[in-house]
Amino acid sequence: MIFTPPHVYEQQPPAFDPSVIDTPAYVVDLGLLETNLRKLGDVQERSGANVLLALKGYALHASFPLVRQYLKGCCASGLQEALLAHEEFGREVHVYAPAFKDAEMAAILPIADHISFNSPAQWQRYRPLIHAARAAGRRAPSPGLRVNPEHSEVEVSLYDPCSPGCRLGTRAQALEDKDLEGLEGLHFHALCEQDADVLERTLAAVEQRFPRLLEQVRWVNMGGGHHITRKDYDTERLIRLLRNFRERWGKEVYLEPGEAVALNTGYLVATVLDLVPTDIPTAILDTSATAHMPDTLEMPYRPHVIGSGKPGEFAHTFRLGGLTCLAGDVIGEYSFPEPLQPGQRLVFTDMAHYTMVKTTTFNGVPHPDIDLFDPSSGEMRVVRRFGYEDFRNRLS
Ligand SMILES: Cc1ncc(COP(=O)(O)O)c(C=O)c1O
Repeated sequence: MIFTPPHVYEQQPPAFDPSVIDTPAYVVDLGLLETNLRKLGDVQERSGANVLLALKGYALHASFPLVRQYLKGCCASGLQEALLAHEEFGREVHVYAPAFKDAEMAAILPIADHISFNSPAQWQRYRPLIHAARAAGRRAPSPGLRVNPEHSEVEVSLYDPCSPGCRLGTRAQALEDKDLEGLEGLHFHALCEQDADVLERTLAAVEQRFPRLLEQVRWVNMGGGHHITRKDYDTERLIRLLRNFRERWGKEVYLEPGEAVALNTGYLVATVLDLVPTDIPTAILDTSATAHMPDTLEMPYRPHVIGSGKPGEFAHTFRLGGLTCLAGDVIGEYSFPEPLQPGQRLVFTDMAHYTMVKTTTFNGVPHPDIDLFDPSSGEMRVVRRFGYEDFRNRLS
């Protein structure tokens, strides 16, 4: 049984006419994006914490002029995202990776404001470079350490940064005899699509396990996984706990959500190409689960299609299949009030975060266009269209 997360049904039908746009296409609605940004901006203002965009979750940089009006900067997972943050976003750049390479460190140091190391060994390796840059009057990021609070409330272990034996972050026991001198920040990331109560319990674990490091640092980064823009998220509780933490510890606080920034702001519009008479009829679409919505197979979950129901809920049930050779390139089973027809558009909801950054061109399937829709003017802008050259150039 493939799970449909409840928030997947939250997004309203698009404010544009899907039948007139070229498909496949990811369409991000700037009005919906701004609604999320306002909410995050409000959290920022009332809690005194800083909110960053996690580029790993959403990196459609044509929309950054809007995003940067609300958020303090970006968090990057390595050099390439750090460069994107520096060049396209232009505010604070925070970097964390499970490990860094010497060659990329030279490029990261001058552009990063904060850098979080995954282990004391990585900190020891790069501490001299940071100190040398500072001594020479050059820019260098404020160094921090990612800790693992060993507090786990994430059900799917693939997405659980505190699963047993997980490589992400240093456990308290591994810190006992380590030289922490010079570390200015503590970073933890332990949540996934969760509410403020989970942050509260995770924070208690951090405070209990890492009092020495907490005392020493001047900033605390509470990672991502905060589902702040979901309808029923308890924002007041989040604001209360952030203010309370800041008052008790006197630290500068950062949150770095990815998903919450773009939650329910984007669609994937596809066209039915053919109907195949399988046990229940299969509609072949001009998209692909594995290439264009990989989380539907990886998580796995069943995305919502506007106007559809669960199998059997409406009169006509179809399996929706993708264009690749993978037998399991199937998005799921859906029912519709009327039979699907070739040429008909289908609109998948909540496709802006993670989906767009994880795509592939497996089988050479044409990559979806990237479109931005501005509801205030009604303008649909095709930001990027991919062709044969994009496919070829990735491979040699
Ligand atoms: C270190 C770190 N920060 C931030 C995020 C963003 O998390 P989310 O998109 O769930 O808010 C992630 C996601 O994996 C992460 O690993």
